[in-house]
Amino acid sequence: MDYNELMDKAREASEKAYAPYSKFKVGACVLTENGKFYTGCNFENSSYGLTICAERNAIGTAICDGEQKIKAVAIYSPNTKHCYPCGACRQVMCEFASDSGLEIILESEDGIEVKNFNDIFPKGFQLL
Ligand code: THU
Repeated sequence: MDYNELMDKAREASEKAYAPYSKFKVGACVLTENGKFYTGCNFENSSYGLTICAERNAIGTAICDGEQKIKAVAIYSPNTKHCYPCGACRQVMCEFASDSGLEIILESEDGIEVKNFNDIFPKGFQLL
């Protein structure tokens, strides 16, 4: 897997973020089992709680294209390194993680860092 390509797409998506309240921009890129890429950025709202994170935006776009098995998610923010997904996004990733595993790609001080989703979100709630 080309982690740099995934991160480049997440970086590009972050430029589209609508974050006038927090000023914290985020971009995400999802790679599905079928080799398709989907990007998303965060978009905030004056009613703050309606804000949608970049990761859930990207996953929603994948779902809408019929892709339900996610192999990797790259997350980029120009505001910080190691932009880990929030708890809500982790629960949504848990729903659509590929059976063969899900990798989380983050930017670090010395390049790219890869985490196994199960290590950052063990024992997630599932009904299926
Ligand atoms: N945000 C994301 O897009 N993804 C995360 O995993 C954490 C937070 C966004 C939401 C909000 O627009 C801004 O970052 C600050 O919380």
